[in-house]
Amino acid sequence: MGSDPQERAKLRIATLANQLVPRASGATPPGGLEREHTEAPRADRRLAGKIALVTGAASGIGRASALRFAAEGAKVLCADTNESDVRDTAQQIRNGGGIAEHIVCNVSNATQVEATVEQCVNNLGGLDIMFANAGVLGSLSPWTEIEAEEWAPVLQVNVVGVFNCFKFAALKMQQLRGEVPGGSLIATSSVAGIRSGQPNLRHHRSKIKRRK
Ligand SMILES: NC(=O)c1ccc[n+]([C@@H]2O[C@H](COP(=O)([O-])OP(=O)(O)OC[C@H]3O[C@@H](n4cnc5c(N)ncnc54)[C@H](O)[C@@H]3O)[C@@H](O)[C@H]2O)c1
Repeated sequence: MGSDPQERAKLRIATLANQLVPRASGATPPGGLEREHTEAPRADRRLAGKIALVTGAASGIGRASALRFAAEGAKVLCADTNESDVRDTAQQIRNGGGIAEHIVCNVSNATQVEATVEQCVNNLGGLDIMFANAGVLGSLSPWTEIEAEEWAPVLQVNVVGVFNCFKFAALKMQQLRGEVPGGSLIATSSVAGIRSGQPNLRHHRSKIKRRK
């Protein structure tokens, strides 16, 4: 490689892509993430033996992540308020040879989150990864034209929901592992938490909370 900055950038991106998505074949399967999950979890995969709970797993990033975690060998509990679609996510995983269940859970509700963590441990055998991904955008009205009460539901999901998920997962992880607790607590933030702008400050502020 020469000193051409464009060539150097291309090489960096290619290297990163390989690090992020190592595949035995080295090839990207056609059809994306869902097509990728076509065989049973193997012991040599990155999440083999792990148990993951994914919130907001009925669609978008949550569904793609649940499918990917399963493709990497994890057992997955898929949680969401949307029952039919979250059931479908778990079914897609099982159709691909993976192990998954679904549960209806509103992350704003501490009791439901605690019960979801319990189901994960009781039915799948533990909890190693909590991916608190469920989130809402809220309306796009300019923030100067809304009342604080209108912001509250966004905070309930994006901030309180993540708090509930982390709290009950951390307590369970400590209980399961005793003196040497371990596990991963992951939330989905947003570029909006780094760079704010009009008009939807409510969403931006709710995402900044996750970066602290
Ligand atoms: N898509 C983007 O461009 C983008 C950008 C920045 C951040 N995000 C964040 O990524 C995460 C996932 O977003 P997405 O784009 O996949 O959106 P999405 O709407 O496709 O998925 C969000 C999921 O969360 C579920 N959900 C909403 N409220 C819930 C609650 N109280 N309890 C449980 N589940 C609930 C919804 O039913 C839905 O299935 C969110 O936290 C979002 O704020 C997304």
